Parts: sequence; C-alpha cells; structure tokens
Amino acid sequence: MGFETRLIIISFVMLSCLCSLNSSTQQLDDMFEEYALNSLPTRPQTGVLYNASSSLPSNFTGVQVSIVRLRWDSFWRKGANYSGFLMPPRILAYPFFTRLDIVYSNLGNQSSFYYNVPNHTLVAPVVGFNIYASGNLTKLNLTLFGGPILVEFPVPQHEKAKCVMFYSNGTYEMSSMTTQENMCSVRDQGHFSMVVEVPSIPIPKKKDRGKLWKWWVFGFAVGVLGLLLVGFIVFVLIRIFRMTSIAKMEKEAEKNEVLGTTNVGQSKMPLATVVRTQPTIENDYVP
Ligand SMILES: *[C@@H]1O[C@H](CO)[C@@H](O)[C@H](O)[C@H]1NC(C)=O
Ligand SMILES: *[C@@H]1O[C@H](CO)[C@@H](O)[C@H](O)[C@H]1NC(C)=O
Ligand SMILES: *[C@@H]1O[C@H](CO)[C@@H](O)[C@H](O)[C@H]1NC(C)=O
Ligand SMILES: *[C@@H]1O[C@H](CO)[C@@H](O)[C@H](O)[C@H]1NC(C)=O
Ligand SMILES: *[C@@H]1O[C@H](CO)[C@@H](O)[C@H](O)[C@H]1NC(C)=O
Ligand SMILES: *[C@@H]1O[C@H](CO)[C@@H](O)[C@H](O)[C@H]1NC(C)=O
Repeated sequence: MGFETRLIIISFVMLSCLCSLNSSTQQLDDMFEEYALNSLPTRPQTGVLYNASSSLPSNFTGVQVSIVRLRWDSFWRKGANYSGFLMPPRILAYPFFTRLDIVYSNLGNQSSFYYNVPNHTLVAPVVGFNIYASGNLTKLNLTLFGGPILVEFPVPQHEKAKCVMFYSNGTYEMSSMTTQENMCSVRDQGHFSMVVEVPSIPIPKKKDRGKLWKWWVFGFAVGVLGLLLVGFIVFVLIRIFRMTSIAKMEKEAEKNEVLGTTNVGQSKMPLATVVRTQPTIENDYVP
C-alpha cells in the first residue's frame, strides 16, 4: 500500500470518527464562547485579552479560555497576535459584523478526552480558536488572503512531532511543523496540537502471545509423540530381546531334540513320529 493510499484511508477513518465527535466539540466551542462572554466586564475594551478560565465550571479544571474583542476593520488591517496564535492581516471574517470575538482555548490535561488521532499520541495540549460575531454565538467563516495562521505551542519542541489540525467541519489534517520552532501553520479556525506516531506495540505483543501459545501446544505434542516413540522403541527392544532369547533356547533345545516339533499357533508342540495304532477290524466277528 502506497503512502498516499494509506493517507486517504487514514483520512477517511478520521472523517468517520470525527463526524460523531464534531457535534460535541462544536457544543464545547459554543459553551466556551458563552462562558467567555459572561466573564467579560460590562464595557470590554477592544484589543485586550480577557482571561475567562476561572468562569468555567469546576469540571473543566485545567482548561484555559480567553477572549479578545476586535473591530472588524482592525482585524482585517492588522490581524491579531494573542495567546500563541499569530494571525496575519487580510483575514476575511464573514458575514460582516462591526466587532468580532476571538475565543481562545487550551484544553490542557483534558485534551485527549476530546481529540484523538488513531495510532498517535498528543505531545502538546489541544489549543484552538473560534471567531464569533461580537456578543453572540454566530460563528464566522474565515477566508485567508494574507497567508496562514501560525500556532505556537506552550510546550518544548518535540522531535518527530507533527501538527494536527482539527477543523470545525469535522475533518482533521496532519502536516509537518514549520521551520520555525514549535509552530504549525493552519488555514482555518479550529483546534490544533502536536502528535507523534506510536509504533503499534499492543498488536505484535498479542501476536507473540499467540505464538507462545502455539509453541506450548507444539511442545506438548512433541513431548507426547516423543514419549510414544520411546515407549514403542522400548517395546520393540523387549520383543527383540525375547525373540533372541527364545531363538537361543530353541537352538539349545534342538541339540538334544528327541521329539520333532511343529508349529501350533505360535508355540512349539512336541510331535510324535509314532503313528497311532490303526483300528483293526475283528475278522472273526460274525454277525
Ligand atoms: C493503526 O495501527 C494498526 C496496527 O499497525 C493498523 O492496523 C491500523 O490500520 C492503524 N490505524 C490507522 C487509522 O492507521
Ligand atoms: C487565566 O487564569 C487562570 C486562573 O484563573 C490561570 O491559571 C491562567 O494561567 C491564566 N491564563 C492566562 C493566559 O493568563
Ligand atoms: C461539565 O459540565 C457541563 C455542565 O455543567 C457539561 O455540559 C459538560 O459536558 C461537562 N464536561 C465534562 C468534561 O464533564
Ligand atoms: C506576537 O506575540 C509574541 C508574544 O506575545 C511576540 O513574541 C511576537 O513577536 C509577536 N509577533 C508579531 C509578528 O507581532
Ligand atoms: C460557513 O461555512 C459553512 C461550511 O463551510 C457553511 O455551511 C455556512 O453556510 C457558511 N456560513 C456563511 C455565513 O457563509
Ligand atoms: C474542512 O475544512 C478545512 C479547512 O477549512 C478544508 O481544508 C477542508 O477541505 C474541509 N473539508 C471538508 C470535507 O469540508
């Protein structure tokens, strides 16, 4: 199987597993937006990043959420650089709203609860962002005219790590890291992380166990066969020994043979050479 074929299969598998996940993670995004909105002061300043982590319910301990409000035209002209996401200018967010909210999240130690890649392990928390119309739950669509968005991860660089992008349409993609340290280059809003491929250890282990089991059976069979063979050899040896000793005895016997012998069944029987007296008819019998 070629690499590309495998990639297609992998993408297909990912697509099918994520489509079910998507609705729940979509809800998660909207929930973060709601909590973030509630955490904002009555008159939030544009261009200021507000930390909304403490407004999350207690079951989201370790998850970090923050929000920044920007004017649409400012975002278009200058982009945004908050929370590890470097957004270049000329990102078209539509439909048009005068202000927009960028909600950033870091799923922390709950990352793998929401996002997984088959045969890979996350080596960074899942970080993400979504852009909403200011103050409501209308998610805006993005078209990037000024190059990709760069994501920086809050963990040390990892050799062999790849970027994984979970886009909001439910697909995920993988790419290599950018030449800059610890960065992924992404094309849309969503959630992002770094993964390393795990060598599939559990399956070979299972195979080994299977082999071991087969070896046990094989060994047992060989043992039984060996025992049978040894038994057979011993039996044959005893037979041969007996036959030779019988033959010897016979030879000894033949030397001082008086009577002939004949085979009756398997044993030798003495055979008398003397013919039995024939019955004679009484001549002087007169009826
Ligand atoms: C994961 O690895 C196993 C064992 O190598 C393989 O059978 C399976 O197809 C892989 N899954 C994906 C989605 O690549
Ligand atoms: C946000 O606040 C939480 C505690 O409420 C803190 O742990 C976290 O570091 C803060 N995040 C930022 C980006 O300041
Ligand atoms: C946390 O609680 C909220 C409701 O309070 C629920 O919607 C959400 O699924 C819970 N999350 C986890 C990770 O248990
Ligand atoms: C973006 O912000 C980071 C840290 O906040 C800073 O180191 C970096 O230079 C900024 N990049 C640009 C292009 O402004
Ligand atoms: C945004 O994109 C999604 C899918 O790409 C589409 O279904 C939706 O209609 C778009 N929204 C707008 C306002 O264009
Ligand atoms: C999902 O979104 C990404 C990023 O916008 C895009 O590249 C990809 O083609 C989309 N996939 C589907 C199946 O819509």
